[in-house]
Order: sequence, then structure tokens, then C-alpha cells
Amino acid sequence: MQADIAILAIESSCDETAASVIVNGRIISNIVYSQEIHQQYGGVIPEAASRLHIKHIVAVVDEALKQSGISKTTLSAVAYTQSPGLIGALMVGACFAKGFAQALSIPTIAVNHMQAHVLANLIEHPQLSFPFLCLTVSGGHTQIVRCDSPLSQQIIGETIDDAAGEAFDKAAKMLGLPYPGGPLIDTYAKGGNEDAFEFAKPQIPGLNFSFSGLKTSILYFLQKQLRENPNFITDHRADLCASIQKSIVSILIKKIETASKLTGIRRVALAGGVSANSLLRSAMQRSAEKRNWELYIPSFAYCTDNAAMIAITAHYKYMDGQFANLDTVPSARG
Ligand code: KG4
Ligand code: ZN
Repeated sequence: MQADIAILAIESSCDETAASVIVNGRIISNIVYSQEIHQQYGGVIPEAASRLHIKHIVAVVDEALKQSGISKTTLSAVAYTQSPGLIGALMVGACFAKGFAQALSIPTIAVNHMQAHVLANLIEHPQLSFPFLCLTVSGGHTQIVRCDSPLSQQIIGETIDDAAGEAFDKAAKMLGLPYPGGPLIDTYAKGGNEDAFEFAKPQIPGLNFSFSGLKTSILYFLQKQLRENPNFITDHRADLCASIQKSIVSILIKKIETASKLTGIRRVALAGGVSANSLLRSAMQRSAEKRNWELYIPSFAYCTDNAAMIAITAHYKYMDGQFANLDTVPSARG
């Protein structure tokens, strides 16, 4: 009988300290500690993130092991996010994983965070067939990935400036909303008219994205309106949120539809924190119905930063014999 493959995975690339245990490809625990301290600064403070990872990593790993019900001595490997991310934050997870693995005399597995976001789709849908396209939308990244097998992914489109989540957060900031503003735009948009205001549309050929023109267009529009009516934002908050949300989502939908048309792939998945956006979810559903896509949207817990996605990626790397060693170092860029 084949022995169980049990992997402890650690994620610490940004402001979530997370750990998960996977046994034979099935997630059995998934613990996330979100560092809320950054909200008061309007963005993630790298030094504070590193310090908080150091403070919480032992408790998070301990809880993940406890909830899994397995003993650390039965682990087959320890996985960690190697890139991309904040270098100090990555170092905490990498050093912890290496030390833990050394003490148990088991190997380490280094995982790419973006590859893991895509493979999060396999957690709840292990039978998902290949190839599929994945629209990965988070606060730091916006990519269209062609996934031919778990370990074979190709970025076929990405942002040339801001990420989609960043576009939401920066627009929210202009409206005076606290960080991260994406979820608030989503909430206020529910009571607004999405056709109330029109903003610049990017003219980027191919499958790449751009959000900086939209950002400038919103800024100039608000400056002009505020000169005439200092209460313009509060008077029109819901309409502004709905119109901004529609602009960002239509940029995303247009490109993923083009990618599907160009590649002929009609199996489409979503990943990353922005996939919580209610308009993006419904627009993807609409596209799926119209274009006959097989659509996959992971549960929210697997869309935002988490260690279960690192664990599932590590499981495939383990099966393929892709191990790291003590010389493997974290890298801020992917
Ligand atoms: O993937 P994620 O949790 O963290 C990383 O950036 O890696 O994504 C966070 C981003 C933030 O920019 C946040 O504003 C955005 O996702 N976000 C949303 C919504 N929920 C989270 N944006 C729009 N609508 C939402 N409901
Ligand atoms: Zn992420």
C-alpha cells in the first residue's frame, strides 16, 4: 500500500500569515491570520508585515496541525511561498519552513504564489480538465493564465501598470473610502446607477491590461466636479461606485472573452481576492452562458491569500519530485 503524502504548507507573501495541511491531495486544515493593522495606514507596511508574520507563524502552524489531526512526525514535506511577494515577509515563511523541515529530516517544496492562485481551482474541483484559462485578479496582480497541466502554466496576458484590486483600492481612496476600498465600492455600487458616469477605456492591444488611464480619468473627473460642488462625492457616492466598478469589470471581461476566443479554450476559471466582487462574478456567469463556457469560481476562502492553494500546488510538485533545498531563497519577483 502506498504511504500517505502529508504536506504542511506555509503562506507569508503579503499580509496574511497562513498554514494548511494536505493529505493525498485533499485539504484537511486551512488557517489564515489576516494582519488588520495595515488598514489604518491605507496600504501594507512591509516591515510591519514581516514582524507580524514572526509573531504569529508558530500559532498559525500549530493550529493548522492541530485541526488536521495528524502528528508532525507523519509529514512528508514542508512547502512555502517562495515568490512573488514582500521579501521580508517571504523570508519569514521560508526560514520557518526550512527549519521545521530540517528538524523533521523531510524535504521542502518552494511554491510560486501566482501558480498557486490558479491551482486553488483544483481544491474543490479535482476533476477539472486541462487546458483551462484562469483570470487571476488580486491587489498585486492581474493575469490571464493558460493552464495545460498542474505544473504547466503560461501567462498570456497581464497588467502593464496597476492590478485590478489596486484600481479598486485607488479609486476608493479618491472617494475618501478606507483601505482596502474594493469591497466598499462593491457594497455602495449596489445602490447606484452603473451608467451614471463614463470613464476612459484603455486601448491596449492583445491580452494585456491597463488601469492607469482609468485612474487618471476618475481623478480629473472628480477634481472638475468638486470645483463646482464640494459635496459631489457624498451626493453621488453610489453612482460613482457603480460606474467605477462597471469600468473595471468590463476591462476584465473584455480581455478574458478575447483570450477564450483566441485560444479556443472555453473552460474558464477565476482566482484572487477581486473575484469576491459581485459584478465580476455575475458578469463571468453571463459570459459563460453567452459563450458556452465551463466556469469555475473557487470559494472565497480559496480566492484570497491562503495556504491551501500553496498546499495543493506542493502536492503536485511532490508527486513530480520537485523539491527545494537549503540554498533555495525567496524572491520578491516571480
Ligand atoms: O488576493 P487578495 O486577497 O490579496 C492580494 O492582493 O494578494 O486581493 C485583495 C484585493 C484588494 O485590492 C481588495 O480591494 C480586492 O481584492 N477586493 C475586492 C473585493 N473584495 C476584495 N475588490 C472589489 N470588490 C470586492 N468585493
Ligand atoms: Zn495573492
